[in-house]
Amino acid sequence: MDESPTLRPLLPWRTCPFPVDWEHEFGRGGELHLEIGFGDGRFTARRALARPDARFVGLEISSASVQRALRRVKRASIANVRLVKVGAQFALRQLFAPDSLSGIVVNFPDPWPKERHADRRLLQRDFFRLAASRLRAGGALCLATDHPDYLAFSLEQAELAGAFEAVPGPPPPAVFETKYALKWKEQGKPLHYVEFRYDGGPTDAYPPLERPTTMPHALLSGTLPASAPFDKVVLAYGEGHVILHEVARRFGGADDDGDGAAERWWIRASVDEPDLRQHLLVLVRQRSSDEVIVRLEPFGDPVITPTVRGAVHAVTEWLWSATGLTVAARNY
Ligand SMILES: C[S@@+](CC[C@H](N)C(=O)[O-])C[C@H]1O[C@@H](n2cnc3c(N)ncnc32)[C@H](O)[C@@H]1O
Repeated sequence: MDESPTLRPLLPWRTCPFPVDWEHEFGRGGELHLEIGFGDGRFTARRALARPDARFVGLEISSASVQRALRRVKRASIANVRLVKVGAQFALRQLFAPDSLSGIVVNFPDPWPKERHADRRLLQRDFFRLAASRLRAGGALCLATDHPDYLAFSLEQAELAGAFEAVPGPPPPAVFETKYALKWKEQGKPLHYVEFRYDGGPTDAYPPLERPTTMPHALLSGTLPASAPFDKVVLAYGEGHVILHEVARRFGGADDDGDGAAERWWIRASVDEPDLRQHLLVLVRQRSSDEVIVRLEPFGDPVITPTVRGAVHAVTEWLWSATGLTVAARNY
């Protein structure tokens, strides 16, 4: 399959450098625009077709929406769109360099109307500050919403962030013609639009995510028993925490490593760090008659972070306490 950037509208962000080299991904330069929560992608496609000179990146967390938008982009052979299935908070910070974005669009963000859910709203003070650091001078974050409380909330949060001038709009026509805009209009709801124009003032620095290049692993001396007692493990590590959920043991099956009947276990883990949750498999394998290796499986392309290393640590500690194996080397 041809993997040239122009034929890769869905970005495999986990294996990209951070920030992403957008020039490489699009195969060219040009204004870079970001859309958060593109839904079915009709606005994304329409806008990209109208501005072939510019480059458009869309973020979504819903797999079904990503699939729908991807079909739309492929059907219309749109070359200047890249879709990324990842949350906005993580993406804006890690995938975009400072001063790189000409604009950010948020059309009809989830309103989280209950007061106790206010901290789940996207457009919080800290998000505005992060957005200011990624926007170029003269760039803007453009919000469309049907929700007056969300509008008031975002105006207040932008004011607290202190780097924006709020200019209410009429929006470009396509904004009030997204799937959700049409739905709300049909229900007779008034729609609101505001441009938060970045004033070009000083912004915060965000240290890049530490990403070790080697796969974390540990070596233990001894022989794996047939089974070991296991209870869910929760461990604080780095800036986040690790949960070990369950253990599975290999039962027959193919052998990729040519090590015959070597004993293998897999531990299902999840790792939570600020703005990033990952699901992992940690492999435990009898490597020789008296050596056991614990390492991360590449399955799912995990982003190796300090807390991901904690998953290997947690499994190593569990093996040590539950099986009597001794730790010979920790490489994590
Ligand atoms: C109400 S829908 C609006 C969809 C589209 N913009 C439209 O107007 O039709 C909100 C969208 O934002 C997405 N979303 C919610 N939180 C997100 C986040 N943190 N990062 C990226 N997308 C997100 C949801 O999955 C959903 O598709």
